[in-house]
Amino acid sequence: MHFINKLVVAALPAIPRPMVRFFASRYIAGDSLEDAVACVQSLNAEEVRATMDVLGEDIFTQEEAVAAREQSIRVLHAIAHERIDSNLSIKLTSLGLKLDPEFCRENVREILKVASSHNIFVRFDMEDHTCTTGTVEIFRTLRKDFPNIGIVLQAYLRRTEDDARAMIAERVNFRLCKGIYREAPEVAFQAREEVQSNYVKVLGQMLRGGSYVGIATHDTVLIDAACEMIRELGLGKDKYEFQMLLGVRPELRKKLVAAGHKVRLYVPFGSYWYGYSVRRFKENPEIAGYIFKALFKINK
Ligand code: FDA
Repeated sequence: MHFINKLVVAALPAIPRPMVRFFASRYIAGDSLEDAVACVQSLNAEEVRATMDVLGEDIFTQEEAVAAREQSIRVLHAIAHERIDSNLSIKLTSLGLKLDPEFCRENVREILKVASSHNIFVRFDMEDHTCTTGTVEIFRTLRKDFPNIGIVLQAYLRRTEDDARAMIAERVNFRLCKGIYREAPEVAFQAREEVQSNYVKVLGQMLRGGSYVGIATHDTVLIDAACEMIRELGLGKDKYEFQMLLGVRPELRKKLVAAGHKVRLYVPFGSYWYGYSVRRFKENPEIAGYIFKALFKINK
């Protein structure tokens, strides 16, 4: 990250929340479920599918986990009721993974019961490496009862190739992303090229192994490599889709749709927007400029 961007990101806690919120608005569908439904409707009108996510990660009490579970269930009912083209993404820490994995599993089971009654696919997001084993375990046990689910693997983790191999054999539905959390060199590749190269390697294994893959990246090097592989393997649209984040590289998304690929956008919403937005700012090369300009106008 550029030095100035690093400085701005480090200074974020001191920047007034309304201003952070202003810049975050491109990445977040809004505070309410109604906002998120409206966002998905407009994406659907552009032939873009969605995966909706209620923002919220680490929680501290079982009551908070139950509240998160109920919010996800409301999203599922809304998807069915509004007939929008969306599935659901969930984060297991928000459902109690770190409090008690058994309790978390039961919360997820309740969500999956509702999802399966509406025939809606559910994706398990992947968080930092301390959550990987727990997330994979809960995913694999619940998949026996609920086949319409998928998991995320992160190309920066050294363990991912092994995780992928085990799950490709079970024809798991994957989302493959680079990985967003700060991880130590012992567990994760650090250099951009290493992460890219592991991404391409694991993607090839997944696609050749017959798994459905959500190719989640805005990196043109990876998108070009994926397109090449899709051509070579002669894969149809029932084998893959591209996935991007709301507010990131919309021009690239339009190109992919125009080229005939299936594209799905990650649509986060809710009141816990701050942590998610700060992660997006860290990835955004233009953010320093935006925030400086805004501060300048405000202080003038
Ligand atoms: P990279 O960060 O190199 O971005 C490529 C280019 O895209 C940049 O050069 C820039 O031009 C543009 N860009 C990227 N981010 C931007 C931003 N915020 N604002 C403006 N421009 C930007 N991670 C994780 O650990 N667990 C998960 O479950 C998920 N889930 C997930 C779902 C989906 C649909 C996506 C697309 C991504 C995730 N991620 C994730 C995040 C992922 O791990 C990764 O951090 C981001 O996608 C950024 O990596 P890229 O592959 O896009 O490359």
